[in-house]
Amino acid sequence: MEKYQITGSQPLTGEIRVAGAKNAALKILAASILSDKICRVSNIPKIEDIKRMAEILEDLGVKMAWGNSTMEIDPAGLKKSSPDWELTKKLRSSIMLAGPLLARFGEVTMSQPGGCIIGQRPIDLFLAGFKTLGAELFEHNESFTLKAKKLKGAKIVLPKISVTVTESLMMTACLAEGLTTIINAAMEPEIPALADYLNNCGAKIKGAGTPWITIEGVDRLSAGEYELIPDRIEAGSFIMLGLATNSQIKVSNCRPEHLETVLAILKNAGANLEIGPDYIATKPSFLRGTEIQTHEYPGFPTDLQAPFTVLMTQAKGRSLIHETIFEGRLFYTDKLTLMGADIIMCDPHRVIVEGGTKLRGKKLESPDLRAGMALIIAGLCAEGETIIDNIYQIERGYAQVVPRLKNIGAKIEKISG
Ligand code: EPZ
Repeated sequence: MEKYQITGSQPLTGEIRVAGAKNAALKILAASILSDKICRVSNIPKIEDIKRMAEILEDLGVKMAWGNSTMEIDPAGLKKSSPDWELTKKLRSSIMLAGPLLARFGEVTMSQPGGCIIGQRPIDLFLAGFKTLGAELFEHNESFTLKAKKLKGAKIVLPKISVTVTESLMMTACLAEGLTTIINAAMEPEIPALADYLNNCGAKIKGAGTPWITIEGVDRLSAGEYELIPDRIEAGSFIMLGLATNSQIKVSNCRPEHLETVLAILKNAGANLEIGPDYIATKPSFLRGTEIQTHEYPGFPTDLQAPFTVLMTQAKGRSLIHETIFEGRLFYTDKLTLMGADIIMCDPHRVIVEGGTKLRGKKLESPDLRAGMALIIAGLCAEGETIIDNIYQIERGYAQVVPRLKNIGAKIEKISG
């Protein structure tokens, strides 16, 4: 198994370019099969989750052609309405294929997508939404089948804000008959990005990025072209890396407007940041402990909670981290405690961090994607050597980790062992 070997505690310097947004790319790939015409996506990150989604689509009969950082998708050969069970188990976002396959074939059978370490992550809101659009649901113990001769537009009120449920119902409703409204929709930037792509293909979506989205059904979608937005979570992770290692790094090719709350909280905590139109530069700062609550966009994103917690171990004073979205997203902190951090878990949703602790390198295993990046940041702050195992979890969402971090002076190697 490959691992990362990190030697920490020296400041970094240079520029790191942010890649295209994983959580926009995955949905646009799923939405591409709503049409039978070619779709071209640029600025696509070469990460494991995208490779898995491409494998699932190829198995369904879709032709995928990688360019340098582009992907050409030709769904004309789509021939199956049941994605491969083993492949879908590897990728929770495969649930995004249910709606498009139902809309194209009138039927879809899928295995229940796995949960993951950050929480149980049910799909009840997906299934309820498809039923509201007129589908019949047949549940089996490990899988489900949806059937609908023709989907009918409807009013869908989401009892809980969900990013992928909003995206899934928005894309599916493009081919439903009549008007669909989604009330209490998520507002993450990846949702207007998906709507822009779909409208570019002839859909009629209004209000994406607000809690009220309307979709006027159309008979078919045409070919699409789309340049992915930069990954705001990758940008935020690198900003926190720069601050935690007291470095001067420029995080370029990003959209500061997608990180307003994060930047305000960092500046209130004493971060010395230079914010440009498409970059953010970090400078050595005296950070104070602070309190955050993760929250749906535009609040503090749950995907940046772990990197922020590592940053707070280096700040002066006490911090309270309240993870409100997922029930299992704080358990990685036991690995930071192993490294010398002073963290108390109050309950599965809250930890208190006493800052100003020196971290020492350790042998660790990456529990999930975002906590994995947090452990890299911790390793780069720590004295001595850190070995991180299970790096597939990190490479699911971050492209070219080693070359990009080495390029700003990080002592990191990929070793096998
Ligand atoms: C998306 O996950 C992201 N993933 C997550 O990023 C991100 O953490 C999350 O949104 C929150 O921002 C992708 O976009 C692929 P949710 P999603 O549905 O949509 C509950 C990463 O690291 N819920 O917004 O699955 C759910 O349990 C990943 O890139 C139901 O109850 O998250 C959670 O408590 C991790 N029933 C809450 O909604 C459902 O049917 C919000 O989760 C669906 C969700």
